[in-house]
Amino acid sequence: MPGDIAVGNDADEAPIGAGHTDAAEGLGRHDADAEAGVAARPPADEDGVQVVAPGGMPDWMPLWVTGAMLVLWAPGGFRVTCYYYRGAYYKAFWADPPSCAVGEPRKKYLGERSFPLIIQNIHRYFLYLALLFLVILAHDLWKALWFDGKFGIGVGTIVLALNLVMLSSYTFGCHSLRHLVGGLYDRLAQRPLRKTAYDCVSCFNRRHMLWAWCSLFTVGFSDLYVRMCAMGIWTDWRIL
Ligand code: FES
Repeated sequence: MPGDIAVGNDADEAPIGAGHTDAAEGLGRHDADAEAGVAARPPADEDGVQVVAPGGMPDWMPLWVTGAMLVLWAPGGFRVTCYYYRGAYYKAFWADPPSCAVGEPRKKYLGERSFPLIIQNIHRYFLYLALLFLVILAHDLWKALWFDGKFGIGVGTIVLALNLVMLSSYTFGCHSLRHLVGGLYDRLAQRPLRKTAYDCVSCFNRRHMLWAWCSLFTVGFSDLYVRMCAMGIWTDWRIL
């Protein structure tokens, strides 16, 4: 994840240096741009690892603000407002509705048309950010395919690729995306492109719960993997 971990040294070994900004560099890949980034950033802490925003934190930023805090609100907001997760935590914690055919613990059903649940409509805007994150993660994966300028594949490459596939499957099955690509029309028969896009999103949407849980696991494991490699605790083994 951009802004997560900054490290990098040899292509085949676990990274031990400091100064890079994204997941691919956390795995030890680097290039000329990344080298330039090293010089622009403050030195690493005693673990040899920095957790900084790209380009470093500005002086006015409070010390308790971490790079993760600057990034995680977007994917976190996307998940919290997801229709599937809503269905789960409404039943478990909100009791609105508690379940099918179960009486409300209040006089009338408020649903999502009044405050505070009407805020959940923000989900469509988090979707736009989530799509942008997929582009950033694809860029990370691309960089994880290069070892000192030569094409290669490491375990980290596979971890990042799997994460991208899971997150894409989750995001492309989003109900808001389904509405966006075709659901807003009453008839799609005259719009073959939208019909195809609608069918594709519907296909992912059928297993939305599965993708939600799989991607939650892979995104957590990817961050852990990069962090462990960046700290030199795990070795990112080269396969190809
Ligand atoms: S509805 Fe689940 S991600 Fe949009």
